[in-house]
Amino acid sequence: MPILALFAAPAGDWAEWEAPLGAAFAAAGLDVRLVTDADPAAVDYLIYAPPGTVSDFSPFTRAKAVLSLWAGVERIVGNASLTQPLCRMVDPGMTGHMVSYVAGHVLRHHLGMDRHLKRNAPVWDQTPPPHPSDRPVAVLGLGELGRACAAAIAALGFPVTGWARTAKALPFPTDHGEDGLRRVLGGADIVVTLLPRTAETENLLDARRLGWLRQGAVVINPGRGALIDEDALLAALDSGRLGHATLDVFRQEPLPPGHPFWTHPRVTVTPHIAANTHPPTASGVVAENIRRGEAGEPFLYLVDRARAY
Ligand SMILES: NC(=O)c1ccc[n+]([C@@H]2O[C@H](COP(=O)([O-])OP(=O)(O)OC[C@H]3O[C@@H](n4cnc5c(N)ncnc54)[C@H](OP(=O)(O)O)[C@@H]3O)[C@@H](O)[C@H]2O)c1
Repeated sequence: MPILALFAAPAGDWAEWEAPLGAAFAAAGLDVRLVTDADPAAVDYLIYAPPGTVSDFSPFTRAKAVLSLWAGVERIVGNASLTQPLCRMVDPGMTGHMVSYVAGHVLRHHLGMDRHLKRNAPVWDQTPPPHPSDRPVAVLGLGELGRACAAAIAALGFPVTGWARTAKALPFPTDHGEDGLRRVLGGADIVVTLLPRTAETENLLDARRLGWLRQGAVVINPGRGALIDEDALLAALDSGRLGHATLDVFRQEPLPPGHPFWTHPRVTVTPHIAANTHPPTASGVVAENIRRGEAGEPFLYLVDRARAY
């Protein structure tokens, strides 16, 4: 009997996923029937993306796992009806997107590109940017995405320091804990936030911690909007303490038209496009987890429900 996989992502996502998932199942030698509607009691795996077509997971009594197409799982991990194992998405294609987004925005601020792009007078100002080795960058969050971004920035010649919940041994200096955060924030010109949204990371950058940043520092947030206290961020930008904030993610998405971020001269808004999951590569990750589930092997990228990421 074929394995029954329910595609429980928004209907609009089906067109871009149907073919790559089918191809990945075939390549993995899996006999999977991929559907958008099914008797819950017959479903073996759910392939999920928010807001998704399923909010009550309790009728899926046979399901061996819920496989998220997103890296961030804050919108599903607290669902009390979800008793099945939950796997988040770690996708090399998504990582590639994120590395290019972060490297691009770090370089924009490092090179002062805006000065040249927005020039409105013929001024031959030869002030060069500092050498990359004099532009320290901090990366908060050293998971799949943070590590890859930190490595890419370091490869461009920037001194990188990372910060995470736990101590790490990586090819660049890292820190952890509250004191570590203070050291890392105080030592960087550019800060990249790549943490998940959890109870512990909510408002991680609040007024007090934003006050630890260097004068004129730049914040780049492709993690989650809730990592930053919006009012405190606006106050720090208004006062000139912070030089700029490049924000991809927001507490409310789409960002409402009247939100001050849209028009603030020191804020760049990108509409949650830093790193979409890349169906051609991510489908192979879904297939591998179904193969593992069928073989009784441990799933990849299992979410720790207590930590919520
Ligand atoms: N904008 C976009 O398009 C986009 C796309 C994909 C993902 N994202 C966001 O990026 C986030 C990170 O993705 P990922 O795959 O790199 O996640 P991950 O592999 O789960 O890594 C999370 C990192 O955050 C750290 N962390 C978690 N809670 C912490 C805390 N309370 N204090 C300090 N550090 C903490 C973890 O520390 P430990 O290593 O010590 O556990 C880990 O290093 C996702 O959760 C999602 O919100 C955004």
